[in-house]
Amino acid sequence: MRASRFVVPVVVLLVAACGARATGGQVKPPDNALVGVTMPTTTSPRWISDGENIKRDLESRGHRVDLQYAQNDVPNQVKQIESQIAAGAKLLIVASVDGSALTKPLQMAADAGIPVIAYDRLLRGSPNVDYYATFENFRVGIYQAESLLTGLGLRNADGSPGSVKEPVNVELFAGSSDDNNSVFFFNGAMSVLKPYIDDGRLVVRSGQVDFQSVTTQRWDGETARKRLEEILAASYRGKKINGVLSPYDGISLGILTALRNNGYGPAFPVVTGQDAELPSVKSIIAGEQYSTIYKDTRELATATASMAEAVLKDRTPPQLNNLNDYNNGVKVVPAFLLNPVSVDKSNYHKVLVESGYYTDDQLR
Ligand code: BGC
Repeated sequence: MRASRFVVPVVVLLVAACGARATGGQVKPPDNALVGVTMPTTTSPRWISDGENIKRDLESRGHRVDLQYAQNDVPNQVKQIESQIAAGAKLLIVASVDGSALTKPLQMAADAGIPVIAYDRLLRGSPNVDYYATFENFRVGIYQAESLLTGLGLRNADGSPGSVKEPVNVELFAGSSDDNNSVFFFNGAMSVLKPYIDDGRLVVRSGQVDFQSVTTQRWDGETARKRLEEILAASYRGKKINGVLSPYDGISLGILTALRNNGYGPAFPVVTGQDAELPSVKSIIAGEQYSTIYKDTRELATATASMAEAVLKDRTPPQLNNLNDYNNGVKVVPAFLLNPVSVDKSNYHKVLVESGYYTDDQLR
């Protein structure tokens, strides 16, 4: 009993370690390599298309793909990665639920000689992360904050000062505290908003302005709805809220529900977002959510698939364009960053429809 439990993993690790790597000093391009892809959840449309796009891209390059969704459950994601290693994956692409919780399976991957690409969310606290593919996350936060200010009339779209001079009330939301991106988004946003808060042009009546007090565990819209309703009850009796910094469309919809439940609408405070998810784009067209940030996840998937191809051939991915900013606590992970685009009612058609991301029919 003991012996067989011991033998199986060793065999599996040896098989995995031999895979696509050098044989007798010669590097063999892996044909039909198994790539393990793990995504955080299917509750958000973006991760569904991320997973499908990566799978399609890799399969068109002749690889096999095991695509798993962890449903926001860390032990589930650990198990999925472990079974991909056991199945002989030659490379892992991981979009984590909790970026710091995968050090053990990442060590198993390293022991088996399996390279790892962190997808969109940085894997933290481990030396066993080879590359990172994502967007300019700090810039996402800047765009969210600029769009909030524009919507509030404190800033014009060209960056010049807006016509509103009196103080406006806003509340701040950040993403999940276990997602490295949340810090980047929030810091980017605060780099724009802090001067306005400091000189009183923006008033945060709840007083909740530091990252830890504004995070939203697992990016959950319902959690955000509850937090905003508590804030409205405690700090907005007889006062109006004018805007909400929201880091993600699913959170924005929760925020809009809280506002609706508190008598707001049809005109709503300015609410930002991220991901250009279909319900939010429809909400923007209907004049409810103010803006979102579009990240072309098709491009991220394609770039990641070609990075994967290079890594499988033991080459350094040529795409890398940021070798400094993504320190995971153990090492700086070489990264490829794509550009986000700020979207509101004025440009959604050009950005989202003319690029083929959505059709007019989908937005009706
Ligand atoms: C992604 C965002 C997304 C959020 C919630 C972040 O890691 O970068 O695009 O809105 O997770 O899913």
